[in-house]
Amino acid sequence: MTEQTFEARVHRMEWAAEDILAVELRRPDGEDMPAFTAGAHIDLHLPNGLLRNYSLLNDSAETRRYVVAVGLDAASRGGSRHIHNEMRVGQRLRISEPRNNFPLEESASLVVLIAGGIGVTPLVCMARRLAALGRPYEFHLAARSKARAAFVDDINALGHPVHVHFDDEHGGAPLAIAPIVAAAPAGAHFYCCGPGPMLAAFEAAAAGLPEGFAHVEYFQAKAPAADAPAPGAFKLILAKSGETLDVPANKTILETLLEAGFDADYSCQDGVCGTCETRILAGVADHRDSILSNGERAANKTMMICVSRCVGDSLTLDV
Ligand code: FES
Repeated sequence: MTEQTFEARVHRMEWAAEDILAVELRRPDGEDMPAFTAGAHIDLHLPNGLLRNYSLLNDSAETRRYVVAVGLDAASRGGSRHIHNEMRVGQRLRISEPRNNFPLEESASLVVLIAGGIGVTPLVCMARRLAALGRPYEFHLAARSKARAAFVDDINALGHPVHVHFDDEHGGAPLAIAPIVAAAPAGAHFYCCGPGPMLAAFEAAAAGLPEGFAHVEYFQAKAPAADAPAPGAFKLILAKSGETLDVPANKTILETLLEAGFDADYSCQDGVCGTCETRILAGVADHRDSILSNGERAANKTMMICVSRCVGDSLTLDV
């Protein structure tokens, strides 16, 4: 793991909603944190060895702290459960510098923010930024119940009342996304973050929008496309060293590089964080990440080597 990290301390923890903890992190030496922009996330390197990505939700103009929120996942593999059950104020841990795969189009004529559950976190940060800039936005927040909706008061305090949808008040029906997209004027930019079914509904509703106007952030990897080919073996040419490696069908590019003794930045290994993004110099990538837009995929300039592979039998990377 060569990702750049630094030490932070848990400065405050707060119950933000049912099963959602807000965690404030500061440097132990009191110095400023690295700057960030709305939509950015950081990695927490947990003492139990796990690494988890969380979006920053505080005002991006703040310099002394990062605030993230962690939803207790019933199917937790140890990340959210550890934070809810073990993490304490005063504890030190290593965190990454912020990375932004979900940047805000600050000059949009209208920004429509659509959040589901804990997906509210990057969008709260965006709303704070838009409010500070005096830019127009609307905020739609869905949660299973009122008790599980975090940061509603914070969003309302920014001056634009949030449109809330609580599933349990609608017989369990989820927020209808298509009417929100249809009602927005041309030129609006949409940002959606939430559970997989919400993102799928959003992507279907936004399919007719021009490229670059619909933005999503996945916390977990997208399900592979039904027609995705089975992974195959290919040659990996490393431009910097001139070496060629064989990537077998059962290994990723990242695994192949690390096993061969090469250095590579990585974090999630799931195609959602962007840390392993690598330049393509020749060949065509078979993109399997949850970050790049269709346009970025077609441009074939970079790829996430933790999950993406090769169309054809050879790929040359800037490694
Ligand atoms: S390590 Fe996170 S996208 Fe590859």
